[in-house]
Amino acid sequence: MSKSKPDTRLVEAGRRPEWTGGIVNPPVYRASTILFDSVEAMDAANPPRDGTLHYGRNGTPTTWALCEALTELEPGASMTRLFPSGAAAVAGALLAVLESGDELLMVDTAYGPTRALCDTVLKRFGVATHYYDPMIGAGIADLIGERTRAIFLESPGTHTFEVQDVPAICAVARERGIVTLIDNTWATPFFFPAVAAGVDLSILACTKYIGGHADLMLGSVTAKAEVASRLEQTRRVLGQSAGPDEAWLALRGLRTLGLRLRQHQESGLRVARWLEAQPQVARVLHPALAGCPGHAHWARDFTGATGLFSIVLNGGDSAARAAFIDGLERFGIGYSWGGYESLAVPADPVRTATQTEWEGPLVRLHVGLEDPDDLIADLAAGLARYRADG
Ligand SMILES: Cc1ncc(COP(=O)(O)O)c(C=O)c1O
Repeated sequence: MSKSKPDTRLVEAGRRPEWTGGIVNPPVYRASTILFDSVEAMDAANPPRDGTLHYGRNGTPTTWALCEALTELEPGASMTRLFPSGAAAVAGALLAVLESGDELLMVDTAYGPTRALCDTVLKRFGVATHYYDPMIGAGIADLIGERTRAIFLESPGTHTFEVQDVPAICAVARERGIVTLIDNTWATPFFFPAVAAGVDLSILACTKYIGGHADLMLGSVTAKAEVASRLEQTRRVLGQSAGPDEAWLALRGLRTLGLRLRQHQESGLRVARWLEAQPQVARVLHPALAGCPGHAHWARDFTGATGLFSIVLNGGDSAARAAFIDGLERFGIGYSWGGYESLAVPADPVRTATQTEWEGPLVRLHVGLEDPDDLIADLAAGLARYRADG
């Protein structure tokens, strides 16, 4: 088939007739045991591979279709493996590339549980983590030592949205034979094809935008050929697999990802720009706004922005912040993001290599698919109360 654009790929990816049997969406195959006609047929199914039924943990057409679709969204990648959550995908990808005695360079703005994995389990298994400034770019070369095995990126950064110079970091890593991994959950490959930018392993919490409806837990790792067999081996021995309902829901979500992301972008930017003009807001941390650290990288490398960003409130303390969030009527208070609904949560960045001081309390907003005028009215009322409280 001729080369397609990202929107077409979202519609067509992973829809092999031999997996769907002509049905538009592959059915939900529920399986543990697969029955073979003979021992010879059982032997022929080894080693497990996509497209050949082996055992439920090694996939069915429902999960293969999602894996193939996610791989097609990352030009240059050769394989995707599924995990039961985004956090499990991060852990699976890191365990696939690290060994005892290695050093890992981890971005200082990584998602909290990713940091916790480094500071607990990886440490126990003899992997040393060094946190680096998200804005380091090609300067990462100075941090690379004899034992550095991998560089982990998350762009934009959790809570504070610094956009990294991914191509520059990957170019240095490639030259030194170091593996690169990215948590690409914010942009998804639709707005940032990370493997094409030089990354070896691209990780998604499909729980967020891929699913898009706040009703599933799922993670994925999409890998270049050089690291694909390590990824599959690690997944298999760790016993990681994804349930068919989650895979089916994620495939269904994927088909409307482009539409949804463009709307999240438009509404998110409207709300963000309005917030920039409010006196109670000290800063808006949104990759598509010029004041966001790394905005130039976003403008160069990404084709869009999603609906998640943060604001720094002008003055006030965490009690005033809690009152502001509690008083919002249209923003839910809850973990995760990427569903159709708007959310607001307090955010307190944990950093070891970069500044942790902010001018005021930080609030992370997810702008959902509601009419942005309604969201702005809700925030306006909240900010009016914040000023009164302050
Ligand atoms: C950037 C990022 N990566 C990974 C995860 C983990 O995903 P999950 O909740 O599916 O474990 C999250 C969850 O909030 C996240 O924000």
